Amino acid sequence: MDHFHYRDGALFCEGVPLSRIADEVGTPVYVYSAAAFRQQARAFRDGLAPVPDVHLAYAIKANPNIAVLRLLAAEGYGADVVSGGEMARALAAGMPAEGIVFSGVGKTAAELVRGLEAGIGQFNLELEEEGVVLARLAAERGLTAKAVLRVNPDVDAGTHAKISTGRKENKFGVPIDQAPAMYARLAALPGLAMQGVAIHIGSQLLDLAPLEAAYARVKQLVDELRAAGHTIARVDLGGGVGIAYRAGDVPPDLADYGAMVARATRGWDVRLMFEPGRVISGGAGVLLTTVIWVKPGVTRPYVIVDAAMNDLARPSLYDAWHDFAAVRPTGEHFTANIAGPVCETGDTFAMGREVDRVASGDLAVFHTAGAYGATMASTYNSRALVPEVLVDGDRFAVVADRIAAETILAAERVPEWL
Ligand code: LLP
Repeated sequence: MDHFHYRDGALFCEGVPLSRIADEVGTPVYVYSAAAFRQQARAFRDGLAPVPDVHLAYAIKANPNIAVLRLLAAEGYGADVVSGGEMARALAAGMPAEGIVFSGVGKTAAELVRGLEAGIGQFNLELEEEGVVLARLAAERGLTAKAVLRVNPDVDAGTHAKISTGRKENKFGVPIDQAPAMYARLAALPGLAMQGVAIHIGSQLLDLAPLEAAYARVKQLVDELRAAGHTIARVDLGGGVGIAYRAGDVPPDLADYGAMVARATRGWDVRLMFEPGRVISGGAGVLLTTVIWVKPGVTRPYVIVDAAMNDLARPSLYDAWHDFAAVRPTGEHFTANIAGPVCETGDTFAMGREVDRVASGDLAVFHTAGAYGATMASTYNSRALVPEVLVDGDRFAVVADRIAAETILAAERVPEWL
């Protein structure tokens, strides 16, 4: 079911008209549907029903709002975190430490200590030296850290280069051919309890074949490690399942994904860990914006909206597509460029796109903005930090305040000697 839908000609999120949120909170603002998060959380879990032993760790980088985390904790999700800040959020949301996976290519010693002291359930090691440091920090505290070694399977995920992670030239994981020797050295360290291996080959995967190819390589590694006498209890298969952003995108059906995982991992006899991010949160949010001007252009008009690249960076960073739609469409369309107020040519959301005809003062949305939206926002051009609203049925709440430019200015100082 689409939780963003038109009723009497106006766009609603569940039971709440978006115009009401704009009136009460202002724009730009992210609006999330609680029902959409729950639906995807359940669909992902249901898809994996044929897999015997599963742990779901939502990749909170996709949307780390604490209300969202609370909602997903209630759905039984743990978290995949990549910084001390994300760990603090997952814990603050009530996610049990045991269900938290600590990923990330540059965890500092201070972050590792925080993870150890919190009792994080799994550290995903990105290099041997990290394991050596973690083992020492754990042993010094009389603790044992559960860890897996992230390997780079050298598979092309077939996605945008900036969100591909599983090719050998990427910074992530250790080369899979070096993994057996490294694993043996790590497994011998006091303070470290090696559990298995992890992969994550990239994000927004629309094709399951690269994942299946990566699993086959992981299986060979698991066999090799077991043959060498290691107990392999876990394999972390990462995230990456893509979603539809535009007409024609055909993302994997979650039942097909689950069936593929079940087939590819049959007989592995491990707990499989998953780190879904976008697939849980992407479709659950829109960025609500107001048209400031429709500026005549040389070839076509520029629709200048009050949201910009600092609020939703994906189009400028990855040429990402987000559908643009009027909150109260007239039925007329025009071909326009959609841009924000930031002083950069790249601050565009769409060029030469056929969209609902809008006029100055109209409300509009960018769809499918629930993942990697608000969390990647900045205050560039001294703009406010964009707020977030969560809708649940007929009610809504501001779950992140707009942080005014003045508040950010108040944190800056002019030294006395200037
Ligand atoms: N696990 C690891 C180790 C990751 O690096 C990521 C994403 C995930 C899980 C979650 O992947 P997902 O299920 O969301 O595809 N900002 C980019 C996406 C960056 C993804 C980074 N890592 C975007 O807006 O497309």
